[in-house]
Amino acid sequence: MIVVNSVKTLRRLIQTHRDMGHKIGFVPTMGNLHSGHLSLVKTAKTHADIVVVSIFVNPTQFGPNEDFDSYPRTFEQDQALLEQEGADIIFAPEVSEVYPNWPNLTKVHVAELGNNHCGASRPGHFDGVTTVVSKLFNMVQPDCAVFGQKDFQQLAIIRRMTSDLNFDIEIVGAPIVREDNGLAMSSRNGYLSSEQKEHASFIYQTLNWLKQQIENGEHDYRALENAAAQRLAEQNFKPDYVHIARQDNLELAENDNRELVILIAAFMGKVRLIDNVTVSL
Ligand code: PAJ
Repeated sequence: MIVVNSVKTLRRLIQTHRDMGHKIGFVPTMGNLHSGHLSLVKTAKTHADIVVVSIFVNPTQFGPNEDFDSYPRTFEQDQALLEQEGADIIFAPEVSEVYPNWPNLTKVHVAELGNNHCGASRPGHFDGVTTVVSKLFNMVQPDCAVFGQKDFQQLAIIRRMTSDLNFDIEIVGAPIVREDNGLAMSSRNGYLSSEQKEHASFIYQTLNWLKQQIENGEHDYRALENAAAQRLAEQNFKPDYVHIARQDNLELAENDNRELVILIAAFMGKVRLIDNVTVSL
């Protein structure tokens, strides 16, 4: 496994692989890797000959009062995990390498899909994500890129951006990896105590409760969202949103929609947790 910090070296290295006819798979991350990230590497290996993993805590996707400074940076541990997992190249650039002109005057904005859910609560967040992912796509020029369904809205936005901007890249979605208690793995779980982690699995239980209600024929989605938000509040969460949405365009679901996704964002103390489950009727 090779660690590369500069775009120039990365491009040269990838070109040598292309010359050998290798297919390039790409897994973008912000590091502090856990089994969720590693599952994406496994998936990428089944789609490509060479797997590039980027580790870059992207400043433009964090709001002014968010955790950019305190976001966990654990490069040596990440490197060991990726070595074990069989990744081929780690691309770990400095901010100045990714953003040679600061501030970047060019932004990639995907309209509509980014307006609701996390986009509404975190203004500018998805523009930061799509801008950096476009940059990374241009740097790596992979054949395929793997993203987790944990960030369901992010995955939908990236799929649309890839198609809208004619990137010749196959976007692969990978299932959510969970702790034994059901809590979706996340780098931000590291901010929680072990008791809080136990309690945080209530978000997944709430998602499953909602799924069950819908499968049992309860179709007043707004009432279900309110009931679930109330359950979360009773358990000392501060719900940011509970939304039952359409999988295709992420708009709030109506009675006759069949392919649904239930999305929850909730604060436990200062830590914002997100999770989702899909429902097909
Ligand atoms: P990060 O939060 O590090 O996540 C990197 C990738 O891992 C994303 O595709 C995310 O959906 C996936 N992931 C995280 N937890 C997961 C879990 N429990 N199961 C499955 N996949 C999981 O998402 C980002 O970074 C950034 O926004 C990025 C795309 C790298 C752009 O900066």
